[in-house]
Amino acid sequence: MIKTTNVLNDSFGRKHNYLRISLIEKCNLRCDYCMPAAGIPLSPKKELMNADEILKMAKIFVSQGVDKIRLTGGEPLVRKDFADIVKKLATLPVRLSITTNAILADRFIETFHQYGLTDINVSLDTLETDKFKMITRRDQFKKAYQNIQLLINEGFNVKINAVLMQDFNKDEIVDFVMLTRNSPITVRFIEFMPFDGNRWNKSKLVTEKEILEEVTDFFGDKYLHKLEDEQHFTSRNYQIEGFEGKFGIISSVTNPFCSGCNRIRLTANGKIKNCLFSNHELDLLTALREGRDVKELILKSLGEKKKVRAGMDDFEKLNDPEKHNKNRSMISIGG
Ligand code: 5AD
Ligand code: SF4
Repeated sequence: MIKTTNVLNDSFGRKHNYLRISLIEKCNLRCDYCMPAAGIPLSPKKELMNADEILKMAKIFVSQGVDKIRLTGGEPLVRKDFADIVKKLATLPVRLSITTNAILADRFIETFHQYGLTDINVSLDTLETDKFKMITRRDQFKKAYQNIQLLINEGFNVKINAVLMQDFNKDEIVDFVMLTRNSPITVRFIEFMPFDGNRWNKSKLVTEKEILEEVTDFFGDKYLHKLEDEQHFTSRNYQIEGFEGKFGIISSVTNPFCSGCNRIRLTANGKIKNCLFSNHELDLLTALREGRDVKELILKSLGEKKKVRAGMDDFEKLNDPEKHNKNRSMISIGG
């Protein structure tokens, strides 16, 4: 008999084995492009998943074929019961990872080691103290940078994510790539994406093409090597000849990679999102609490998943504020 394993298929044949769980809507930074200036209305605590509910949800997804879970936020390390959540999730047959701003990372080194949380993505948009203060509205560059070094020294698989914006950090592309010279990290440049309240405007966008131009202008065509795309890639990766690390470009705006998407998202208040750009959410937490069938809702959500960027298949649609203003702000999605 052929043994079948459950897989979360959508109508385009994509298998979803990667769940991103947002643990909290709060953050200890205030990145200008991530949340509206006035903040966001926070869900009352009782509407957020508690640690046991997170585990229950994760188990349901795992029973359907999920084998990779990333913890996001807001800032996941701000959550008081973070270590308890990781301890619970570490009992599941999944590869665990986290996306953090690293401000609190030094306090969790042992937790990360103990529970095998080896893949750590750190969001860092600038290497300059003043600019860091400007974009995050907090004076914490030193702490973030020291903790990134600490994570690298501790042997974690560190990726740095930098969202690029015109007139802000486009001039730092080469500096970021230089970080990969003697360090086994990957620096990933992210095209600035539109979300509710982030005043996105295409004139702020730094495109994949422009990033590659900056890099080749400085390092020379000959020394830039394109690496093979991974199976479910978001980042198209490159390496400068002789450098220890790599860099990549996440071009969600000008060159989407939806055809290989294996990602599903669960928000801190227990809603499933079948795409980063989707504003259709199904409430799994209420179903779980009422003893209704959560699996059925997960399958329904996947069945409704669109081929590209929640239906915004061309740039014009993405550029339409009507469309992305109905989505959440990034702080409550978690990337
Ligand atoms: N465009 C692209 N990336 C964004 N992030 C937050 N807001 C945006 C945006 N508008 C990134 C953060 C972090 C991840 C969680 O998402 O910098 O790396
Ligand atoms: Fe916090 Fe990340 Fe949003 Fe910055 S981008 S405010 S670090 S959640």
